[in-house]
Amino acid sequence: MDLEKLIREVAEEINKNKEVVAFTGAGISVESGIPAFRGSQGLWEKYDPEEYAYISVFLRNPAKVWKMLRDMFSIALQAKPNTAHLVLAEMEKKGYLKAIITQNVDGLHQEAGSQKVIELHGNGRFLVCLSCHNRVPFLREHLEIEPYPVCQTCQKALKPDVVFFGEPLPEEALNSAYALAKSCKIFLIVGTSGVVYPAAQIPYYAKSKGATIVEVNLWESSYTYKLTDFFLKGKAGEIFDKLSKYLF
Ligand code: APR
Repeated sequence: MDLEKLIREVAEEINKNKEVVAFTGAGISVESGIPAFRGSQGLWEKYDPEEYAYISVFLRNPAKVWKMLRDMFSIALQAKPNTAHLVLAEMEKKGYLKAIITQNVDGLHQEAGSQKVIELHGNGRFLVCLSCHNRVPFLREHLEIEPYPVCQTCQKALKPDVVFFGEPLPEEALNSAYALAKSCKIFLIVGTSGVVYPAAQIPYYAKSKGATIVEVNLWESSYTYKLTDFFLKGKAGEIFDKLSKYLF
């Protein structure tokens, strides 16, 4: 079936049900200039996550991890929302969308105007001190500080307020995400490979509770042939631009 026809069908479903919850990953921010993690230009092609993205490595060698963080956030801190973020915010405003559950830490959903955003992996717009729990806005000036920014209270290394591998996800965020997945009629998966747990389990739960699964992705993901009812293959910005014309 051609993409345009699929998008029209999805719009009809959304108009009928209006109980949509979105689940987003790095792919939605690629058109904002932020590389995804996996795939040819992915961040993990440049930095082995085993060596750079585990909390145990950060605690042992913050200077090394801050090399990757500087690279990642020098783009993320100045990125702007793209059409996909903006259309999701508009869908919430117009009552189609209940909430966004995101794995992203770039804050672009909030910057696009979305109000209900559940951040499963934290928020990279803040830095925290693991020793005294001081939390400050992550500013571009912090990227200039070698070998890493330190807490003004206790001089320990600051860390972006994001979940590293080996750290638990914020319990409240996970509980909210499951409650939303349970009650929605349409679960809209955008730009995620679906390989990192426990976040990746949530679409399976939504499906088990009867949600229709719509997936927007440039390529097939681990969900496509298992869960997805409507697969809108392409760039999120372009697909949401087309979808918005049927909704608004
Ligand atoms: N439009 C839509 N989808 C896209 C686009 C685009 N322009 N570009 C890439 N994609 C898709 C890819 O096909 C892939 O399925 O986005 C997905 C990106 O996958 P990942 O890089 O694995 O990102 P994500 O699924 O969000 O990773 C989950 O892994 O490393 C951890 O904590 C990190 O939150 C992250 C988690």
